[in-house]
Amino acid sequence: MLISITLRNLEVEIGVPDTEATILSELNKFEYLSPPLKKNRLIPKSIANTKAIFDFPRLLNINIVASIIIVSIREIIMIKLDSFSSFFIANWKLHGNLNFIDEFLDKIQMPNDISKCIVVCPTSIYLDTLSQKKKKFFIGAQNVSQYEDGAYTGEISSNSLRDFKIDFCIVGHSERRQIFYEKNGEINLKSFQLIKDGIIPIVCVGETLEEKKQGRTNEVLENQLKESMSDSSNSSNTIIAYEPVWAIGTGLTPSYEEIESTHKFIRENNKKFNNFKILYGGSVKSSNSKEIVALPNVDGALIGGASINLDEFKKIIED
Ligand code: PGA
Repeated sequence: MLISITLRNLEVEIGVPDTEATILSELNKFEYLSPPLKKNRLIPKSIANTKAIFDFPRLLNINIVASIIIVSIREIIMIKLDSFSSFFIANWKLHGNLNFIDEFLDKIQMPNDISKCIVVCPTSIYLDTLSQKKKKFFIGAQNVSQYEDGAYTGEISSNSLRDFKIDFCIVGHSERRQIFYEKNGEINLKSFQLIKDGIIPIVCVGETLEEKKQGRTNEVLENQLKESMSDSSNSSNTIIAYEPVWAIGTGLTPSYEEIESTHKFIRENNKKFNNFKILYGGSVKSSNSKEIVALPNVDGALIGGASINLDEFKKIIED
């Protein structure tokens, strides 16, 4: 008998033995069991039990169902981006240690407004410590391996991030692109791995000062997005962060009009990105964060320097 089940729009057919006759006829496939079975004159129910131990096709079906359930659960536990009105991602970069984590938890009170999504991204070694002590915020990694498994010394896989219940991961930050020569193709693979494991990639794109001066901002962004976004990316599993390289850590920012028009370009140039959450990053501080996040096409901020200045960060996320 074939039974058909539908799990999250995915229809699966599973073969199961329907009658005792089936069980008996299938027994012929297991000739090597015959002597003891005949000798013991087992009744069909007992036969079915004995057979189950050796029934690989059936075992395979069970495995398929188990995998589908695991994938569905992962989908279910992926953060629902649409339930938030704004995002504040604290990128600690290579800063922070155990003392700083305690100080952060002591000083920073999460906003009462639960529609604000706060994500803190420490260095990898502190992900678990922070995750265990956290209250009302999410944890993000700053990088992940493009590989799933294998001989890649020093890498951290998305699988292991999932094991530690990490919900977000920054990929393609300009410091990784410029200092570690990361290319769009790698960023694409990293995003793919993360999405597969139910972690939300925050994909960073942005032009250099030279590209801006040449009037190539939109062209650069279009190309970075085309190449670094995984085909599996969509508005519920991926976030885009626009970070002009020349604005990162410099105290310089584009004007509010420029930020808004660039975000509008990202959203409208390719219809795939119409509904994506698009964050701005680059010298966000308490004196400009409210205005930036209030722009119509800006869904939040990626904050570097000001996220490790606790007085600043407090003001940025406060209600
Ligand atoms: P910044 O960094 O806020 O210090 O400019 C932003 C970032 O690197 O994401």
